[in-house]
Amino acid sequence: MHAIGVDIGGTKIAVGVVDEAGRILAKVRRDTAADDVASIDRAIADACTELAREHEVGAIGLAAAGFVSPDRSSVLFAPNIAWREYPLAQRVGDLLDVDVPVVVENDANAAGWAEFRFGAAHDATDMIMLTVGTGLGGAVVVDRELVRGKWGVAAEVGHMRVVPGGHYCGCGHEGCWEQYASGSALVRDARQAAVANPDAARRLVELAGGDREDIQGPHVTQAAQEGDPLAIELLATLGRWIGEGAASVAALLDPELFVIGGGVGAAGDLLLLPVRKAYEAQLSALGHRPVAQIELAKHGNEAGIVGAADLARR
Ligand code: BGC
Ligand code: NA
Ligand code: ZN
Repeated sequence: MHAIGVDIGGTKIAVGVVDEAGRILAKVRRDTAADDVASIDRAIADACTELAREHEVGAIGLAAAGFVSPDRSSVLFAPNIAWREYPLAQRVGDLLDVDVPVVVENDANAAGWAEFRFGAAHDATDMIMLTVGTGLGGAVVVDRELVRGKWGVAAEVGHMRVVPGGHYCGCGHEGCWEQYASGSALVRDARQAAVANPDAARRLVELAGGDREDIQGPHVTQAAQEGDPLAIELLATLGRWIGEGAASVAALLDPELFVIGGGVGAAGDLLLLPVRKAYEAQLSALGHRPVAQIELAKHGNEAGIVGAADLARR
């Protein structure tokens, strides 16, 4: 059976038709506004209707960047989107003219599931997915099972506190890991660096079209790939936060593999090497235990689509 997967982020949705082998057969994107949840519903329904005209689909999976209810129907809370006790499956279902089941999953759980079933974690029994985007998402696979927790909201690793008194987070607390290990953190630090050190940031600002407030993650990646020292340093800092936090996660779960997803994965080794280095530097008992592998998502930024579709048809 083919299914539609929808990845709903803070600024855009990506929608695809996915086959049984996890391949994306067709894909569309829409921009969204994180503070207008009704417009997100319409964008999802619209994109699904468009794809369902050309493809026969048996289920729709919505990968939502938030805390999802255990019955997979609603978003209880989202730090970066205005969902509160929001019956997402029903709202979208009401707008569709096709009659297929609609299922909600946490976006990072969906991405982790895709990598576990069809991607970088295919041979793993115990793995952690980290999605580095607007926020920092997590998925935990233990003994080949997705860990959902008692109330469906396990693996919210982005809200583990890593800096007492640190940056405010959309969840209402301070110093959460996602305030340091996310695409948003990368962009915040890049814009700040452009204020503090305009000379070093010249290439970044140029790529952004001349305004430092328009710097986005892909500009940092491109500048770094060109050899720009500031951009390389910004990615290394992001990598260090990811790697150090991952070492704490390993203290709890002892995974064999971490998979890193999200748009910033496009930076490749410029991100991955600092992640691995920081992970080893912070890992307890190094030299006396095996060290987990750390790899990029095979499905890149499309893992959420693939996993949401696959989870929806189970
Ligand atoms: C949310 C998670 C989500 C992650 C990635 C976090 O802020 O709490 O539910 O998985 O962002 O989108
Ligand atoms: Na999760
Ligand atoms: Zn938080």
